[in-house]
Amino acid sequence: MTEQIYKGLAGVVADHTAVSKVNPESNSLLYRGYPVQELAAALSFEEVALLLWNGELPSSAEKQEFLDFERSHRALDPRVRSAIDLLPLDCHPMDVGRTAVSVLGANHPLSEDSSPEAELTKAKELFAVFPAVVAYDQRRRRGLELVEPRQDLDYSQNFLWMTFGEEAPEEVVDAFRVSMVLYAEHSFNASTFTARVVTSTLADLHSAVTAAIGALKGPLHGGANEAVMHTFEEIGIDPAETREDAAARAKAWMEQALAEKRKVMGFGHRVYKSGDSRVPTMKQALDAMVEYYGRGELMGLYDGLESAMGEAKNILPNLDYPAGPTYHLMGFDTEMFTPLFIAARITGWTAHIAEQRANNALIRPLSAYNGPDERHL
Ligand code: SDX
Repeated sequence: MTEQIYKGLAGVVADHTAVSKVNPESNSLLYRGYPVQELAAALSFEEVALLLWNGELPSSAEKQEFLDFERSHRALDPRVRSAIDLLPLDCHPMDVGRTAVSVLGANHPLSEDSSPEAELTKAKELFAVFPAVVAYDQRRRRGLELVEPRQDLDYSQNFLWMTFGEEAPEEVVDAFRVSMVLYAEHSFNASTFTARVVTSTLADLHSAVTAAIGALKGPLHGGANEAVMHTFEEIGIDPAETREDAAARAKAWMEQALAEKRKVMGFGHRVYKSGDSRVPTMKQALDAMVEYYGRGELMGLYDGLESAMGEAKNILPNLDYPAGPTYHLMGFDTEMFTPLFIAARITGWTAHIAEQRANNALIRPLSAYNGPDERHL
């Protein structure tokens, strides 16, 4: 019997979800029914997180309660800090993020309590504390001291404050907030599916998130935002160059890369075949950063790669493509980009963990054996 194989589970509908709808026909993305563009234009990341977890927008009392909770759970637990300090400065920051979540789980008093209330508390705590993990890791790699969180700042302002030790300008905070909203959720992507597989075994929330971080690290998934910047670096970034010259060099680089059959990160998507719904909004945020920092030549590289890829293969950018240079302009080291994706996606992962737990079936597909026929010693 020859079984039908769905390599990479392409085209397989594995379950229902009410968290988000990715619609490749209309290039749209809805979080709990709301277009992501509307959310990015109007709401804080904290409000979007509540929408993803609860299914509805918060009342002002619910919002205030969460803001108080979030602001009082931002500080890095000394046990997590000690664990991070044990990790070498040249390990990948995704390893630090993965380890931090694992340590938080091992120390959590509600670790084995999978009631909806306990799960939501753990999700909110992870949301609140993860920025401190990223910020501290970025700083220690630069030989700088930890910066304590500030309760008078919102999530995005405080994230940038803890990372850079100074208050970020409004334009930068806004671009950062938009990136968090856009990265928050995307149905059954590889890391979310990983979280659901782990949850389906009835393992705890921190195990599911730790595994999801492992899945996110790879360059075919979240690691692409970092890889985009490596491409820019390989082509060569020269702030003194004109936009036109940068575009011409990028175009030539892309033609060569495609001739060598290289996969260029930041382009293509398993679900969207005519454009990632999030790219125009993220591109606007990138444009704002390019203008703010006066770095038109980066848009030359951006446009050159995009148009050469479009002309040669008709493959369009995904969200990681504009996000990479945006984070670069804000001052994050390239290796820190994918941990920023974690900070955002903790919301989507934990919403899916709750959904999986509420209506669980062990995820365990079949395989078609193609090894040797039965044989004997
Ligand atoms: C994310 O799933 C999600 O929702 C993920 C995500 C989320 O929010 O969670 O949106 C986030 O992970 C975005 C994707 C980030 N990854 C990259 O940017 C890596 C580069 N892109 C790819 O390798 C690729 O496009 C994938 C992995 C994203 C999707 O690939 P598929 O659907 O498995 O398609 P494929 O690899 O089989 O490619 C089909 C064709 C091939 O050409 P042919 O062999 O048919 O001639 O398209 C080509 C590929 O070679 N192709 C590319 C390419 N992407 C596809 N060629 C060069 N560069 C690319 N980036």
